[in-house]
Amino acid sequence: METIEKNQMQTAIMDSELSEQIKAATKDSHVRAENTELMLSYQRGRVSLQQYQLLLCSLYKIYEALEEALDTNASHDAVAPIYFPQELSRLESIGKDLEYFYGRSWREKMMISAAALRYAQRLREVGRDHPEYLVAHAYTRYLGDLSGGQVLGRITQKSLGLKSGEGLSFFSFPAVSSPNLFKQLYRSRMNSIELTEEQRSGVLQEAVTAFELNIQVFNELQDSLSCVSDTENEMRQRHTQHKQSTTA
Ligand code: HEM
Repeated sequence: METIEKNQMQTAIMDSELSEQIKAATKDSHVRAENTELMLSYQRGRVSLQQYQLLLCSLYKIYEALEEALDTNASHDAVAPIYFPQELSRLESIGKDLEYFYGRSWREKMMISAAALRYAQRLREVGRDHPEYLVAHAYTRYLGDLSGGQVLGRITQKSLGLKSGEGLSFFSFPAVSSPNLFKQLYRSRMNSIELTEEQRSGVLQEAVTAFELNIQVFNELQDSLSCVSDTENEMRQRHTQHKQSTTA
């Protein structure tokens, strides 16, 4: 990055409010997240059923830990202003989607990546040791879901040929009538949180970590799928070789 741009970003980070600081601090991370293979599939307008199912499994574990940490710390000064369980909670919606795809025994059929478990572990640590950092995690997930996430929902529906709403609850926020207005409210609530300079810089650092944890989940998910397709290709090749040798 050019030095002038870097200086400008540092000035923006120092002078502005938390919502602007966090956006500036995670700008590069956002670009990196958008450029993961999984997100590129989305941007190409193509996502497979396996990709979506595995993503839902990981998201279940992530939101389970996030929402538990938020509930436990709901009255903490740095959490109360951004605590919107009715409008934002995702755990139940993801559960519904998993039931749609896997049936009633979805809990036993879920496949959870090590990266999702690490992310959930970090959320539990933050909830226990640094509740003031929860805003970084809530921002990264919920504001993302209300931004690019809305487009991802439409792509999922189209790619998988799902009927309106079926298996797509994760993307739907029935208690938020205007995502843009809600994001404005959320940012103003973030800006009302009182933080010491040390806490503020911890929150900004944690937001970068939150993006990094998401990137790791996406990468691991994609790697596991390419592993599956490599094995499938190998099996297909062996099958063809076997057929050739038996017909020769
Ligand atoms: C905001 C696109 C992936 C987190 C946005 C916005 C767009 C967008 C258009 C609105 C920017 C604005 O209002 O100024 C995308 C696309 C993605 C993607 C196309 C991938 C296909 C992600 C991921 C995360 C994320 C993976 C995090 C896990 C956020 C957050 C915001 C945001 C936190 C709010 C920024 C703010 O207003 O402070 N995204 N996004 N996005 N996105 Fe993404």
